[in-house]
Amino acid sequence: MVRHDILQLLAAHPEEYVSGERISQQLNVTRAAIWKHIKALKDEGFEIEGQTKNGYRLLKTPLSLNEWVLQRVLTTTSLGRTICLEDELVSTNVRAKELAYQGGVHGLTVLAKHQSVGQGRLQRQWESPRGGLWMSVVLRPDLSLADASKLTLAASVAIVDAIEELYQLRVGIKWPNDIVYNGHKLAGILGEVVGEWNAVQTLILGMGINVNFPCERLSSSLRATTLYEILGYEVDLNILAAAILKHLENKVISLEKKAFNELRLSWLERAVGLGEEVRILQRERVVQGVFKGISIDGALLLETENGEKSFSAGEVQLRSKTGTYF
Ligand code: BTN
Repeated sequence: MVRHDILQLLAAHPEEYVSGERISQQLNVTRAAIWKHIKALKDEGFEIEGQTKNGYRLLKTPLSLNEWVLQRVLTTTSLGRTICLEDELVSTNVRAKELAYQGGVHGLTVLAKHQSVGQGRLQRQWESPRGGLWMSVVLRPDLSLADASKLTLAASVAIVDAIEELYQLRVGIKWPNDIVYNGHKLAGILGEVVGEWNAVQTLILGMGINVNFPCERLSSSLRATTLYEILGYEVDLNILAAAILKHLENKVISLEKKAFNELRLSWLERAVGLGEEVRILQRERVVQGVFKGISIDGALLLETENGEKSFSAGEVQLRSKTGTYF
């Protein structure tokens, strides 16, 4: 792609101007075509200084998602190495499922700048305005069906690790995998098995993170927050996506090596409500007890009047008794 070649050339000379003539010769395109591509890149958010005498210089890359920028900052081996990035999708999970059925490789990552009908857990809709990180990864790991729920736990730990690493911000995990800050939801994860797990071993891991927009863009009933709201500035979505994919890739590899206990402990370190009196909503039923932790299978362990009970993520929700988290 000519546009990527121009960027490559400019990025290779960060301190210098690259003349239009040089670009034209190296890429075999006319000066007029270069001018059009530079204009299109500026419209995408690249800051490119142009001087009639000296040529062009790349000053800044956009904070919004961009395939070229994302590929440059990726440090993974498989996750995100094949990317499908669209301006708008109905849902990145839906697109990732279609691509998985068509043979999409392990690590294929689908991103959209905006989702028209994002999907949440428990058949809910997920509001996905521009500025968020809406991303689904196709995973074909060497794991059994029983380990599928562990991958969603892995994704929640990957997100909190990336956020702490990049912005020195500590956020919590509300079982099973809501990312929360001060009782407000910052991110959610939707894991979906494709076809017969045992036959094709494919999982779609959808991650939705409220990033560069004020929380007024979301319905107030959601009790949601955004990174912009917490940090007070916008962040580079490409760097955030790359960091999450790096942490997730490492966790998937650990799980393949059966190192679940390590992941369980990292998850517990960030869990909200641990040791507290909580309520579990199971359709019409409410079970009350003390949140003791998660089992080796990733199920929530609750100490109730009738002894210890375990709940798997499928249809249940965790609520605080005091209303400090939703
Ligand atoms: C939840 O309800 O907490 C899970 C929300 C998951 C939302 C993400 S956004 C990217 C991916 N595509 C979707 O349609 N859903 C997930």
